[in-house]
Amino acid sequence: MNSTAIVTGAASGIGKAIAWQLMHEGFFVVLADRDEEKGQVLQKEWDRHGCCFQKCDITSEKDVHELIRAAQLQHDKIDVLVNNAGLLRDQVIWKMSTEDFDRVIDVNLKGTWLMCKAVAPVMKEQRQGRIINIASRAWLGNAGQSNYAASKAGVIALTRVLALELGKYNVLVNAVAPGLIDTPLTRKLEPAVLQKLMDAQPTGQMGRAEDVARLVSFLAAAETQFITGQTIYVDGGKSIGAGI
Ligand code: NAI
Repeated sequence: MNSTAIVTGAASGIGKAIAWQLMHEGFFVVLADRDEEKGQVLQKEWDRHGCCFQKCDITSEKDVHELIRAAQLQHDKIDVLVNNAGLLRDQVIWKMSTEDFDRVIDVNLKGTWLMCKAVAPVMKEQRQGRIINIASRAWLGNAGQSNYAASKAGVIALTRVLALELGKYNVLVNAVAPGLIDTPLTRKLEPAVLQKLMDAQPTGQMGRAEDVARLVSFLAAAETQFITGQTIYVDGGKSIGAGI
């Protein structure tokens, strides 16, 4: 029987590339996303590769429980959870609305926490599991992202705590911190802003969603052991040096 992985935010960008990579490594993948239309299209397209779509808004505790229960009932065990769903609402702090702060924290941090809380007892009971949280290089600090950077710093702290709490149950928990990656999320940026971001990259270019997916599949593999609580960057070197 195939190993099972749940990927949140699987209908687009990085999540879609992670789901594709895991399917090709032999996982049965539960594609979870709040976007039902895109999710259904993907399920049809990828059906023969071993996946199913389940609508889930990760900020809804009810949706999250239904997702975990359905995956458990259908597949007996959950080997891997990839918490990828996330969003941006950028603005300097004096212009940022409280709603935009709350929304980003709710999805990126609380939604990830709800998913971890729901899957932890299952993986603990199985005495086996991998949780991979998609953070961001932005946790180090990016002007205009006080909500987003704080949410991703929270995801990294959550990863470290869960690595300590779940380690003795053979559940490894790691974070992946992408830099500038070409996805629908970054394609929404103003061209001038995007160019500035690209110029600041040591490699002078954006990463691909597949670059992130390859690291996630390494961390998800049963053969990968003894790595837990870590944050690994996929950012073309942007996180090193003094930024000048
Ligand atoms: P995207 O916008 O292309 O895809 C995000 C997916 O998450 C969408 O399918 C969306 O429907 C889903 N989603 C959003 N809120 C949700 C919710 N409440 N419940 C369930 N699904 C929800 O974004 P992208 O670029 O693929 O980003 C994926 C992750 O990678 C995010 O966590 C983002 O913060 C992170 N990231 C992205 C970077 C980039 O340069 N693209 C850089 C660093 C981190």
